[in-house]
Amino acid sequence: MNVLLLGSGGRECALAWKLSQSPLMGKFFIAPGNAGTSAYGTNLDIKPTDFPAVAKAVADNEIDLVIAGNEDPLVLGIREFLATYPDPRVSSVLMLGPGREGAALEGSKDFAKGFMARHGIPTARYFTVTADNVEDGDKFLEGLKAPYVLKADGLAAGKGVLIVPTLEEAKADLRTMLAGQFGKASATVVIEEFLSGIECSVFVLTDGSGRYIILPEAKDYKRVGEGDTGLNTGGMGAVSPVPFCTPDFMEKIRTRIVEPTVQGLKKDNMDYRGFIFLGLIDCDGEPYVIEYNVRMGDPETEVVMPRIASDLLPVAVAAAKGNLDGCTLEADPRTAVTVMAVSGGYPGDYAKGLPITGNLTPEKSIVFHAGTKAAPEVVTAGGRVLAVTSYGSDIPSAVAQSYASLADIHFDGMYFRRDIGKDLLK
Ligand code: AMP
Ligand code: GLY
Repeated sequence: MNVLLLGSGGRECALAWKLSQSPLMGKFFIAPGNAGTSAYGTNLDIKPTDFPAVAKAVADNEIDLVIAGNEDPLVLGIREFLATYPDPRVSSVLMLGPGREGAALEGSKDFAKGFMARHGIPTARYFTVTADNVEDGDKFLEGLKAPYVLKADGLAAGKGVLIVPTLEEAKADLRTMLAGQFGKASATVVIEEFLSGIECSVFVLTDGSGRYIILPEAKDYKRVGEGDTGLNTGGMGAVSPVPFCTPDFMEKIRTRIVEPTVQGLKKDNMDYRGFIFLGLIDCDGEPYVIEYNVRMGDPETEVVMPRIASDLLPVAVAAAKGNLDGCTLEADPRTAVTVMAVSGGYPGDYAKGLPITGNLTPEKSIVFHAGTKAAPEVVTAGGRVLAVTSYGSDIPSAVAQSYASLADIHFDGMYFRRDIGKDLLK
């Protein structure tokens, strides 16, 4: 089985680490990958959104399975592009990742809310606004309690959600968004009721025919500062399992959210084969969907992959073939924690190309590369640089191991949160 994985972050490094362990793996390529993924396969200097180059790589390397790590190529329709490509070596390739319509669950908040409404999936009340119905938007806002949630409909690099304290500001921000604050992405804005609770991430692998497997759940840490303060980031760390995700709560998630989502995709004829990331919030023991993503989470993948004890590749192939019948994934009972080492200044401006020194292959942790490059020595190449994952019998022992491994890793301006998992301890 020859595999091409698209992407270059910590998520793809963790997927590559896991997939490369499969005895079924033949030739393995990551496009474009990073300095870490080259330990598990061959990096190809191709952008995931350069579809003709991806198609050529599939043909040249006799690829059997393409896995999309990030959402961009999916939202842009890579599945359709490959499936209709004139070369049969490309059109017959298996693809893990939904088509354009399924990807709209992440690419359009309005589409996702409509899907949830149609299929009775618990989520915040909402109203969709464009330049044509701003006053109706004001009326909807007037019926809500503070704070107010405004979301750009389209992809806005994770920045398109505003939580606004007063009604006046919400009305003003609504207009600023519609006028192009997030470009085309905010020409449509979804207003939502604010939900209060603790968030977690649940991952589902589905085959388009109503069958699915729930992967280990995780909690990520989005704010840059300790105690969940400061700006939002791509994620500063993650923990799995999540103590408040009890068997009872997971069963509510399965019956109220996962089942209707997977059945809804089938009813709507989306032939969705791939990962679904459920961003959930626990409101007094009741799960609600905050968002869908059509890929795995980052940095959640850096704890979810280490917690999958089974071979992932045959299950990924089965999902891509549209038949997960009889497939299961065993969970590793240990706790996994990842701590993200980021560039100084992130999520604002930061330097790139800084040498990374120290022990990047510690015995007791797994160092997943996020933003790195081989130049040829390893240098920083992004805001999030390294995700250091460790196992433990509990959160404190796992996180302590990651901090011990991080003590031996250096680059100028390196920063990481020292409180990952702390909020989950009794
Ligand atoms: P999203 O991009 O939709 O995941 O939103 C980004 C973040 O905004 C989420 O992770 C939540 O922390 C917060 N958020 C989004 N929607 C709501 C909501 N309806 N109520 C409270 N917080 C929200
Ligand atoms: N960790 C959140 C995300 O991947 O979107």
